[in-house]
Amino acid sequence: MAENSWENFVIKDLEKLRQKKVLIRVDFNLPTKDGVVLDTYRLDSVVSFLKDLYLVGAKIILLSHFGEKGESIKPVADIFIKKLPFTKFLQTTNFEEIKKAVDEMNAGETILLENTRMFKGEEENVPSLARNFAELGDVFINDAFSVSHREHASIVGIPKSRLSYFGPTFERELTNLSKLLNPKTPALLILGGAKFGTKLNLIRKYVNQGVDLYVGGALAHAFMKGRGKNIGKSFYDDKVALTDDLIFHANIDIPNDVTTKSGDNLKLEEMTDNDIIVDIGKESILELDKLIDKSETIIMNGPLGLYEDGFRFGTEKILTKLSLLPKEKSVTIGGGDTVACANTLGVIKDIGYVSLGGGAMLEYLANGTLPGITAISSSGLKI
Ligand code: 3PG
Repeated sequence: MAENSWENFVIKDLEKLRQKKVLIRVDFNLPTKDGVVLDTYRLDSVVSFLKDLYLVGAKIILLSHFGEKGESIKPVADIFIKKLPFTKFLQTTNFEEIKKAVDEMNAGETILLENTRMFKGEEENVPSLARNFAELGDVFINDAFSVSHREHASIVGIPKSRLSYFGPTFERELTNLSKLLNPKTPALLILGGAKFGTKLNLIRKYVNQGVDLYVGGALAHAFMKGRGKNIGKSFYDDKVALTDDLIFHANIDIPNDVTTKSGDNLKLEEMTDNDIIVDIGKESILELDKLIDKSETIIMNGPLGLYEDGFRFGTEKILTKLSLLPKEKSVTIGGGDTVACANTLGVIKDIGYVSLGGGAMLEYLANGTLPGITAISSSGLKI
């Protein structure tokens, strides 16, 4: 195994952390509606590791971002402090106060710091902020795979000056997702959501590897438009120009019928200028079911409808289908909304692998690494 291979940096021996100050980057960016947390799956996934650290008397200092507007992480803190003994939330970004609180910690105590994105310089990866974070711990553990595609101070800055490891949640992601870098065919990627962002890299890579793609959600609207269909007033991402080789690619399927905001199930040919697509149609769900049955590897990331406004029918049907597949098939889902939907439906335990990553999962599958991975494995600091 190469010296800088990620496997060499996974924290294994928790005894090493007995009574140490352990700074951990977690991803407590939970889905919310009107300030209310909708699902705690991401948070619950790291609690058992934190309990193990508590048992060795580590002093645990947690960093996480939350939300999109730089708001306080308090709604999550209120839930979290009930899950782990001796835990408190420090609602400040003042390092003097934070250092004092950390110096006063007893073995086995945990402090959750305020939303990392409320600290000036987090998103710009300002070195002085990274150092301030780093100095809070004797060691650093990144257990937040799902945000490790961001070159932020709490992800890529801290490992420059602190001995750094990957936590068990991170390890689980890399162990499972690395198998999908060259997926066993016939393979199907079901991709939903609204914006292309960096998704095109994975689309190109996968179609070149012979993976079939089913594009749903608002992403599909761009393909529909490119194929000359009327999408009415539906949103589509016009930031990325889709090229004809992708629009008409034989391995890329899109829905042939849709549900509209007025509740109609329409074929694309029946769409009028005023219609708004909110979900995949019923015939398309059946078509997608057939594609799933033909595949050995199935990966789903992103909802197939306007999930946040309650249009979940298509996403729920497909997640239920995935949960009923024979165990020999490789089934992976990822993305905040997709995972929350599977959790609410109660099918999550029957799905092969559940990645906590949305964008991070897709970027990792496209590139085979992430900034947060190389920050630790190539830091040059020896563990
Ligand atoms: C996510 O929800 O996908 C991660 O927490 C990353 O969040 P971000 O897109 O706000 O960086």
